[in-house]
Amino acid sequence: MTSPDSSIAPRMMSGKNREEDTRTDRSLRPRSLDEYIGQHRVKNNLRIFIEAARGREEPLDHVLLYGPPGLGKTTLATIIATEMGVNLRVTSGPAIERQGDLVSILTNLKHGDVLFIDEIHRLNRVVEEVLYPAMEDYAVDIVIGKGPSARTMRINLPKFTLVGATTRLALMTGPLRDRFGAVLRLDFYDDEAMGQIIRRSASVLDVSIAEDGATTLARRSRGTPRIANRLLKRVRDVAQVRGADSVTAEIADAALDLLEIDELGLDEVDRRILLSVIEKFDGGPVGVDTLAAATSEEADTIMDVYEPYLIQLGFIQRTPRGRVATRLAYEHLRLQPPSSASFYNAQQALFGDPE
Ligand code: ADE
Repeated sequence: MTSPDSSIAPRMMSGKNREEDTRTDRSLRPRSLDEYIGQHRVKNNLRIFIEAARGREEPLDHVLLYGPPGLGKTTLATIIATEMGVNLRVTSGPAIERQGDLVSILTNLKHGDVLFIDEIHRLNRVVEEVLYPAMEDYAVDIVIGKGPSARTMRINLPKFTLVGATTRLALMTGPLRDRFGAVLRLDFYDDEAMGQIIRRSASVLDVSIAEDGATTLARRSRGTPRIANRLLKRVRDVAQVRGADSVTAEIADAALDLLEIDELGLDEVDRRILLSVIEKFDGGPVGVDTLAAATSEEADTIMDVYEPYLIQLGFIQRTPRGRVATRLAYEHLRLQPPSSASFYNAQQALFGDPE
């Protein structure tokens, strides 16, 4: 079993960032649903599931959490275990290479334990099959021997709760997805929730932050607490070097400009992606693999990390023929959009005439 910190840290980050973020994340993470800010729909659902399961003195049904990275899936898994008063075991899809690894994890669980599998969509299909009877019947079937004398033996497992997390729900197989009692989507946080999270983190880190400093940072953290917490530390550095008592909007703006993060939270890679679609592919449509080659980013990274926020901002649209840059993207980059007639025709050709 891998330790929580090595298996669940965001895989897209460089080693140094990853270590630093993991350390900070741990102390900044809320420990209860009451402390957890935002994601009201998810929290309300979880509150009811947890209260009902506790009332029946039964383990919680399996829960699948999905959404872009950095929004709090791991934090929620930890909170679920805490609120249920049980142990949490943590692993990730790519870390479980063989069926035997998963069988060993499952047979070592105790009654009621929460098993958290991050990046569950990356579980190998053969390994995944172990999960079906484990989730449904709390049992695993193992094969003993080889050839004609091979026999299967069923081992009963304690009743446990699987909490799965994924950034890519569409990559999960139907049989696995269907075995979760609840499938909950995490969305980007709005500016108000981000502001509250930043003020809470600043207080945990003992950083004094002005109201306008928190608002600025909230606006430029792309609705993602993990990014806000990282930027807060960089902003704190600038405040310290300038000898400022507190993080004001002016300091936050200066620090974020230095990091080349724009007023909507887009960084150099976001801009490279948008510019590629617009300049190299005439605004699209362009397939994600072609876009990956043109930007020197992995297609998975584009789909997991960058694209969701660009889509949320309405800068990119996903069409059956590839990605298309919208008029808003041109305007944000201060580029001249194609003439309205050609823009309209291109979009119409892709989506069909609404009439
Ligand atoms: N830190 C990171 N995410 C958080 C959240 N949703 N609520 C409170 N603190 C957080």
